Amino acid sequence: MSVEEKTEFDTSRAEAFAGRVADLLDAGAAAAMMSLGHRLGLFETLAHRSAPADSATIAANAGLAERYVREWLGAMVIAGIVEYVPETARYRLPPEHAACLTEGAPLGNLAVYAQHVALFGKVEDQTIRNFETGGGTGYDDYPCFHKVMAEDSGQTVIAGLFDHILPLAPELAGRLAAGIDVMDAGCGRGAALIAMARRYPGSRFVGYDLCADAIEFALAQAHEEGLQNVSFETRDLTGYAEPGRWDFVTSFDAVHDQKDPLGLLKGLRKSLKPGGVYLMQDIGASANLEENRNFPFATLLYAVSAVHCTPVSIGQGGEGLGTMWGWETAERFLHQAGFGSIERHVLPHDPMNVWFVARV
Ligand SMILES: C[S@@+](CC[C@H](N)C(=O)[O-])C[C@H]1O[C@@H](n2cnc3c(N)ncnc32)[C@H](O)[C@@H]1O
Repeated sequence: MSVEEKTEFDTSRAEAFAGRVADLLDAGAAAAMMSLGHRLGLFETLAHRSAPADSATIAANAGLAERYVREWLGAMVIAGIVEYVPETARYRLPPEHAACLTEGAPLGNLAVYAQHVALFGKVEDQTIRNFETGGGTGYDDYPCFHKVMAEDSGQTVIAGLFDHILPLAPELAGRLAAGIDVMDAGCGRGAALIAMARRYPGSRFVGYDLCADAIEFALAQAHEEGLQNVSFETRDLTGYAEPGRWDFVTSFDAVHDQKDPLGLLKGLRKSLKPGGVYLMQDIGASANLEENRNFPFATLLYAVSAVHCTPVSIGQGGEGLGTMWGWETAERFLHQAGFGSIERHVLPHDPMNVWFVARV
């Protein structure tokens, strides 16, 4: 039966669906509370204790007000995240739960992504205006976007950079060690370049990003580490052209929300020297909605798209391709940009993203 066909009103279906909506509301609230727990260090506080503790002890350990912590713990217990012993009014985060909710957690810290949910609320008024007018948003409307993004890519990019990501182009490690010129397009707070600059002192690294606050952060980090081989520049990459300048160009989740993604890819290809490599990470979902039903975090990603990636592109006068533009679109654009060889990879540590290695 097609979705357009009218059917008899099915009361039990309606009731089951209302239950599903109630569950979604609870899950959304739990996600917002997870963001809070992440930012306040509460998951780490809980994880450091092996025995259950009362709310006063947990709050004291976290340096927070007990009354609020107790309410947060209530939400976490009902959500099934924290265990509760009613007889002693004590709480415990099982190590199996800490394994995906704390810094450096073996399964990745999923609480990092909960911050996007909290951001949705922060920018809701602006988002409503966008829906009403078709207009866009500036990065300044997301005061903490680059901080959240750096934490996000700290897990998907930095954590796997040397073991999984750079080996996608087997020649890179040797060339980076020997000394080459590298550029990261849309570098954000610059963590990927800083990690590479630290590891490969013989190579030279440059990061460009539209946002001055992200670049200031990157410069301060590089300065603090005393790195002489990395620099960062605030630069709008629209119409980017520096022909034949780089041996290796990267972009980590930084093409789909540009003003002109295809134009940028054309510029990046031309910026490569002969034998150069372009490494591109972007969201690995499909351009076809129906193929994304089981894609990890697909609802979250469509929401991030509606609230952030689409409006920041439209806000620059761009097309607003959105987070879910799809790997098919990315691959087609790489072909249209003139790359000769294009490989597509999905990495086990990062099923949410697709990785392209493109050569001139
Ligand atoms: C999703 S963030 C990724 C940041 C970083 N690569 C990371 O992985 O953390 C996309 C980045 O593209 C930058 N960006 C968007 N439009 C741009 C433009 N027209 N020129 C340069 N950078 C741009 C944003 O400022 C943002 O830092």
